[in-house]
Amino acid sequence: GGGDDSSASGGSGGDGTITMGFSQVGAESGWRTANTASIQQSAEDAGIELQFSDAQGEQENQISAIRSFIQQRVDVIAFSPVVETGWDSVLLEAQRAGIPVILTDRAVDSEDDSLYETFLGSDFVEEGKKAGEWAVENWGSQPTFVAELQGTTGAAPAIDRQQGFADAIEGTDNIEVVASQSGDFTRAGGREVMEAMLNSNPEINAVYAHNDDMALGAIEAIEAAGKTPGVDIQIISVDAVRDGMQALADGQINFIVECNPLLGDQLMELAEQVVAGEEVPKRVVTEETTFTQEQAVEALPDRQY
Ligand code: AHR
Repeated sequence: GGGDDSSASGGSGGDGTITMGFSQVGAESGWRTANTASIQQSAEDAGIELQFSDAQGEQENQISAIRSFIQQRVDVIAFSPVVETGWDSVLLEAQRAGIPVILTDRAVDSEDDSLYETFLGSDFVEEGKKAGEWAVENWGSQPTFVAELQGTTGAAPAIDRQQGFADAIEGTDNIEVVASQSGDFTRAGGREVMEAMLNSNPEINAVYAHNDDMALGAIEAIEAAGKTPGVDIQIISVDAVRDGMQALADGQINFIVECNPLLGDQLMELAEQVVAGEEVPKRVVTEETTFTQEQAVEALPDRQY
């Protein structure tokens, strides 16, 4: 060994096998389940030994998982940060130990971008913008009172999807967000928040949900209130997982902006490059589309997740 960073961090495999420590957010949504399956499958395909840790939605669990990966001297650490803030010190610990870190799916707000090698994931502001542009086009001609179901408070996709949507509807007189609250990206959260919003804001005739699971929860609350989702109350959501696409095809959701969870192959490829000391782009953006009801009917039979 030359005593450089790469030999200092290569203690776990021994035989050239790469060991990756991966800290996942949790299992809050259909998207997350598909993302976890993709990462596990791609690691297996690439012959990368995966140390998988589920943080159950808690940042402190992610920080302990990362510390334990550092202690085990894995070759590379990857994680999807539950919230944006508060990562600098643990990232510095990894850097001092010579272990490269890859951010996947969600960003951190650290000012020092040398604390991680690359960030692989969606452009969440763009997703919010696509949602907002559809709203302007389809809702802008009549008075629209929107309930916004936000993702996990402080999470990059919640912050950015709110921002992108707000930017797109700005200046459209007919569209007003009358209530905005976190449903934590879960179906139960979406149902509860929607129920409360319908009680306090009976004028609501539209929903912008930051993910499909919350939209599916909202559908239950809307039906329980005696209204027809997709008709009396139109719904836009984000993700395009199978259950969301089914609701879109059935006319209960009106438009879905895709967020691609199948990040596994790209993540393993980046990991191999980073461990080999190769240069990688600092940002790798996922390609995504949008779905109308007609497009969902067409896409559903081939939808894998
Ligand atoms: O970070 C991606 C988001 O997290 C997905 O859109 C949401 O469903 C998940 O929980």
